[in-house]
Amino acid sequence: MSASRRSIWGRPMLDVPRKEVILSTLALRAGYGGKPVLQGLEIEVREGEIVAVIGRNGVGKSTLMKSLIGLVPAMSGSIVYRGEAVETLPAHKRARLGMGYVPQGRDVFPRLTVGENVAVGAAIKRGGIPEAGRRRIVEAFPILEERWNQRAGTMSGGQQQQLAIGRVLIADPNLILLDEPSEGIQPNIVQDIARNMVELNRRTGVTIILVEQNLDMIRAMAQRCYVMVKGRIVASLDRSALDDVAEMRRHLAV
Ligand SMILES: Nc1ncnc2c1ncn2[C@@H]1O[C@H](COP(=O)(O)OP(=O)(O)O)[C@@H](O)[C@H]1O
Ligand SMILES: [Mg+2]
Repeated sequence: MSASRRSIWGRPMLDVPRKEVILSTLALRAGYGGKPVLQGLEIEVREGEIVAVIGRNGVGKSTLMKSLIGLVPAMSGSIVYRGEAVETLPAHKRARLGMGYVPQGRDVFPRLTVGENVAVGAAIKRGGIPEAGRRRIVEAFPILEERWNQRAGTMSGGQQQQLAIGRVLIADPNLILLDEPSEGIQPNIVQDIARNMVELNRRTGVTIILVEQNLDMIRAMAQRCYVMVKGRIVASLDRSALDDVAEMRRHLAV
């Protein structure tokens, strides 16, 4: 075999084996009260990718994330995670297979400390957090080290968001589903969080599906992007398209 192939654009591509698909959906339909929001949605994400999903308010981005983790049941279609059909598995089983979910709005417990939030998330007794898990969290988000015994409700939105993400790292996920982490967070902190996530991705190879409206965060994190309209993927944009600000703004307009 030749050392290089040609891409469809005629440029030579290196003959590096492509990474395995970690998650794919086929004709996925899911919604509420028998009414589908996702209308035959298809995505394919490879190991180690950071892929954004964008689209206007109400197109079904959060429903997609909930459906991937199992909080909204699939009506039909499939979700394949690491070679296994998971669409009928309950959320806790998908989590055990290595999927981590960070909900929109963060959902941290304000009256509990950082450490207690982590323990509740992992369903383990306070003080019983494994050292390796704790190290994983504070390595990714150093601010949580100094805030470990502080109540979450007294922290800034950005710190609470880092806690919400850090919490899923206790289980050492292969895939993180991250729903609008920038919501209500100051721009400079958005950049900090994006940098920490990219660093985590490079260091550990964790795959990230990022739902976002914030163009700065998308451009700081994502390698490519799906555009969603009314429960379907209507476009798949590569990295260079993410730099076309005018085009991106059109897709993001609320
Ligand atoms: N729990 C729910 N029950 C009924 N309808 C819902 C529920 N959650 C969301 N929806 C509806 O589903 C559609 C998609 O919502 P959502 O997935 O939250 O969109 P997005 O995250 O893209 O803003 C909207 O029309 C919304 O009103
Ligand atoms: Mg949403």
